[in-house]
Amino acid sequence: MLERDLVIPCTVVGLLQLREQMPTILVTGGSGFIGSHTCISLLSCGYDVIIFDNHSNSKVFPSLEVASFLSINNPDRIKIIHGDICKPDDIEHVFLASEKIDAVIHFAGLKSIPESFKNPSKYWSTNVAGTINILNCMAKYSCENIIFSSSATIYGGGQGKQISESDLINPTSPYGWTKFISEKIIHDQHKAAKESANSCDETSKTINAIILRYFNPVGAIKNGIIGESPLLSATNLFPTIMKVINGEDSQLNIFGNDWPTIDGTGVRDYIHVMDLAEGHVAAINYLLATPNCFIELNLGTGVGYSVLQVINTFEQIVGHVIPHTFHARRDGDVASCVADSSLARKILKWKAKRELSEMCFDSWNYWSKYLGSNL
Ligand code: NAD
Ligand code: UD1
Repeated sequence: MLERDLVIPCTVVGLLQLREQMPTILVTGGSGFIGSHTCISLLSCGYDVIIFDNHSNSKVFPSLEVASFLSINNPDRIKIIHGDICKPDDIEHVFLASEKIDAVIHFAGLKSIPESFKNPSKYWSTNVAGTINILNCMAKYSCENIIFSSSATIYGGGQGKQISESDLINPTSPYGWTKFISEKIIHDQHKAAKESANSCDETSKTINAIILRYFNPVGAIKNGIIGESPLLSATNLFPTIMKVINGEDSQLNIFGNDWPTIDGTGVRDYIHVMDLAEGHVAAINYLLATPNCFIELNLGTGVGYSVLQVINTFEQIVGHVIPHTFHARRDGDVASCVADSSLARKILKWKAKRELSEMCFDSWNYWSKYLGSNL
């Protein structure tokens, strides 16, 4: 039986039929939460995938399980290389060992706001220097296309209205700054290459880029084969609610009930990780077909939900009350953060389809299976 998540509307199939060889995508951080779901979408749309990950926050992507799930008979369609983006030699090894890399999706990095305040230099060296290492190697091996994982956190909150790409950039944490500066470096590389191409400089190296700014990715693939299971402790709302549902924590602490929102609790734009994965496939399709491209795009649903609305949705799914108490606001939090994703819709012809209830159900389904198999 085909799972719904596998039936991906996929314009790339037509494109691939015209090519002699399937495009190969290097996915840094491809064993992580968003990366692993994106790999499944890429593979099921015909792309070949090389995962490059140091597995500091993930287990090795379960390639055999995934290959049999996708009925992939050719093991060369998924390669997993253990390595570190902070070590240029590790990255170079991937390019040397691969016949052709058509594009890079660069997920690898560190993503905890609280940790970035405690250890900023670790964030700058992994997220920014790591990105520079990737760009240098791409230039050396004439790989021209990159998709970069950025975050809505660079906006610093939306004051109750949807945030569009041209809104004020105002990172409120070292993590947010590392994402914004990485965006800036990629943009500078793109501009420099364009200018030298215009001046007929034969040494010019083109860089085409799409910057994707994610809002709040949650959920898991429908059959629960993969999901969000960080090795490092997560402080986000969904994993924290899961711990309460599974009895690991006795209650959820809600950070603030005095925000200027519908019920006083924080509002976010939660987006199903499979919608996000499909957004990456749409972005790769666009990037490979569009010379001289540099675009920044929000990926969200455009709809915000409060913490209490999320709790209520989970309660309906699990059939019991989720105990919670109210606490002071958390440092660095904002009242509301909701995307205007109309530009992604217009350019990529992509739109998030899955509702909050599906996000909660799929998260819970994965966590039940994951915890079940680890108990
Ligand atoms: P994740 O931690 O699950 O995945 C990141 C992967 O990168 C992990 O598998 C980790 O082992 C790997 N990694 C970390 N440091 C590395 C290094 N030095 N070299 C090689 N691999 C390394 O995180 P995720 O949620 O999948 O996020 C992916 C990307 O999206 C990150 O860049 C993150 O900043 C960004 N992002 C995430 C969210 C979110 O809420 N999950 C929101 C906005 C942006
Ligand atoms: C978090 C991350 C940010 C990341 C973003 C997208 C922090 C501080 N920020 O932001 O790096 O880019 O996710 O994934 O880690 N909440 C509670 N109790 C909890 C946990 C959360 O009330 O135990 C509330 C928060 O106050 C917020 C909402 O739930 O209002 C969502 O929180 P969270 O999942 O951490 O996401 P962001 O704050 O948007």
